[in-house]
Amino acid sequence: MDLIIAKDYLDLSRRACRIIASEIKKKPDLVLGLATGSTPLGTYQELVRLYREEGLDFSQVVTFNLDEYYGLSKDNPQSYHYYMYENFFKHVNVKPENIHIPDGTATDVEAVCRKYDEEIARYGGIDLQLLGIGNNGHIGFNEPGDELLTVTHMTELTDDTIRANSRFFNSIDEVPRKAITMGLGTIMQAKKIVLLASGKNKAGIMAELLDENAVSTKNPASFLLLHKDVTVIVDEEAASLLKK
Ligand code: PGA
Repeated sequence: MDLIIAKDYLDLSRRACRIIASEIKKKPDLVLGLATGSTPLGTYQELVRLYREEGLDFSQVVTFNLDEYYGLSKDNPQSYHYYMYENFFKHVNVKPENIHIPDGTATDVEAVCRKYDEEIARYGGIDLQLLGIGNNGHIGFNEPGDELLTVTHMTELTDDTIRANSRFFNSIDEVPRKAITMGLGTIMQAKKIVLLASGKNKAGIMAELLDENAVSTKNPASFLLLHKDVTVIVDEEAASLLKK
């Protein structure tokens, strides 16, 4: 695991953007796994900047998002579909047919999940997966628990996550209780992973992840310790409790 300590959020975002841009230049039809939340926003802004100023070309890039709230339609401003279009897709030349995000309004969830995994496999798996991390160690919506599922699935959000994500909603009661998420297996099969953590409220989980040399379903991100090509980019605040 490579650890990069960035000076601040802008530096973290630029470094993440540089890694993604360099992979796209090496492989223009990169299969790119994407994340939502506050953390990758700066990375998306930087990628948009490179598209505008340097012609970084997304025309062959294929994207797969990690997750989507269950019950929110694509045009709901809290949905991850909406987030991705507003913050990234509508500003670059990714082809709509190359964009994949789980359908939060699906009635046959099992079929949608199987199809999602099949599509990822059809493209030969994810080349580069961008990840944030929850305060509780979740990646995607793979929440801490007694077991972690390997494949794309419907999951219940933990109280920690509902509380953390309520900042994006008018009230905590509006936060969906369920989501569809890629499983740990799909994430771990990505050829390359970039995990971002920014701010003081991520310092505790980053210390747990990077100082403890142990994997546990109680900290889903800890499985990344078993992956051969993970780059962790933290800013100084998120690194503030690291011992090593
Ligand atoms: P955040 O969320 O980027 O909004 O902190 C990260 C996550 O929950 O995975």
